[in-house]
Amino acid sequence: MFKAIVVDKVDGQHRATYEHWREEQLPDKPVLVEVAYSSLNFKDGLAVTGKGKILRSYPMIPGIDLAGTVIDSDTSEFKVGDAVVLTGAGLGEDYCGGYAQKARVDTEALIKLPTAFRPQDAMAVGTAGFTAMLAVAALQKAGITPDQGPIVVSGAAGGVGSIAIAILARMGYSVTAVTGREELHQYLRELGASDIISREQMPQSARPLESQKWAGAVDNVGGQILAKIIAETKGNGAIASCGLAASHELHTTVMPFILRAIKLLGINSTLVTKEHRLNMWQQLSELFETTFWEKISKTIRFSQIPEYAEKITKGEIRGRVIVDINAE
Ligand SMILES: NC(=O)c1ccc[n+]([C@@H]2O[C@H](COP(=O)([O-])OP(=O)(O)OC[C@H]3O[C@@H](n4cnc5c(N)ncnc54)[C@H](OP(=O)(O)O)[C@@H]3O)[C@@H](O)[C@H]2O)c1
Repeated sequence: MFKAIVVDKVDGQHRATYEHWREEQLPDKPVLVEVAYSSLNFKDGLAVTGKGKILRSYPMIPGIDLAGTVIDSDTSEFKVGDAVVLTGAGLGEDYCGGYAQKARVDTEALIKLPTAFRPQDAMAVGTAGFTAMLAVAALQKAGITPDQGPIVVSGAAGGVGSIAIAILARMGYSVTAVTGREELHQYLRELGASDIISREQMPQSARPLESQKWAGAVDNVGGQILAKIIAETKGNGAIASCGLAASHELHTTVMPFILRAIKLLGINSTLVTKEHRLNMWQQLSELFETTFWEKISKTIRFSQIPEYAEKITKGEIRGRVIVDINAE
C-alpha cells in the first residue's frame, strides 16, 4: 500500500482525499517509480481544488511532475535504481500522477535525472521551469537577441515567470517584469529584472499598435496584458505565449502581425520531442547552480498540498513549490 491524493467526482461533486492505494490500482504503464518529490504547478492547483477541468477521468491521482527512482521496468531504456524525472506529458492529467509514493509512467517524456540536479532541484524546475526554458529557446529561435531591446515577462513572480526572468538575465537580456505584487519587487530584481511595472500599468490596450517597447516577451497571463504586450512589441519581435493565469481570452487585431511582423509563439510543454526535452534540461543545468533552485522554491509536506493548491489558483505563490512526498 502507498499514500496518494485521489481526486474523484462523487454525485457530481469534486472531492480530493488522502487514500492508501495498491500498485494494482495504478495504470498499466512500463515503468514503476518510487516518487521522492513532486511539485505544484498552476494546473495542479486547478486539479486538486476542482477549479478547472484538468483531469481526464476519475478517480485520478493528480501531480503533473515527479522525481524518483525506478523500482520496476518493462523497458531496456530504464533500469531498476535509475534516478528519473518526468514533467507533464499526460502525467497527473491523462493518467495517475506524482502526488503519490508510487507512479507507473509512460516513457516518452521520462528522462534520467541529469547529474547536475538533485531530485528536489528537478522539481524546483518542474513543468514551470521547463516551460520557461522552452519559451526562451523559442524566442532565440525566432532571432531575438539581447541587443534588440528588453524582454517583458508577465506573471513575473510565479513559477514560469521567475525562472524565465532568471534565464533571460543570465543570457544577457534586459528584462522587465510585470507583477501585481509590490512586495516582491526586491525578489524580482534579485532574479535579474532590471525594470518592474505593475499590472495596473498594463490595462486594456486602446489601440492595436502602440509605441514600440519590447524586443520580445514571455507571457504567462493572457487576456488584456497579452493584448497590451502585442501592441507594444517592436517590429520583428516575438512573444512566447505560455499561460492564461489572468484569462484565456485575447482581443487584438492582425495589424501587429502584418504591419510589424510580430510573431506569437505558442508554447506547450507536453508537445516536445525527447531530444528537445534533453536539450532544455542540459541548458538549465548549464545556467543554474543548486543554490538558485533553493532560492526560488519552498518545500512543502505531502499533507499541505490542498492548502497550497488553493494558494496557487489565487496567484499567491512566489516562485516554485516542491512537494516532499514522504514528509507527512
Ligand atoms: N504552456 C505550457 O505548457 C504551460 C506550462 C506551465 C504553465 N503554464 C501556464 O502558465 C501560467 C503560469 O504558470 P505558473 O506555474 O507560473 O503559475 P503561478 O506560479 O501561479 O504564476 C502565475 C502568475 O501570474 C500572475 N497572475 C495570477 N493571476 C493573475 C491575474 N488575474 N491577472 C494578472 N496576473 C495574474 C501572478 O504573478 P504576479 O503576482 O507576479 O503578478 C502569478 O504569480 C499558468 O496559466 C499555467 O497554466 C503553461
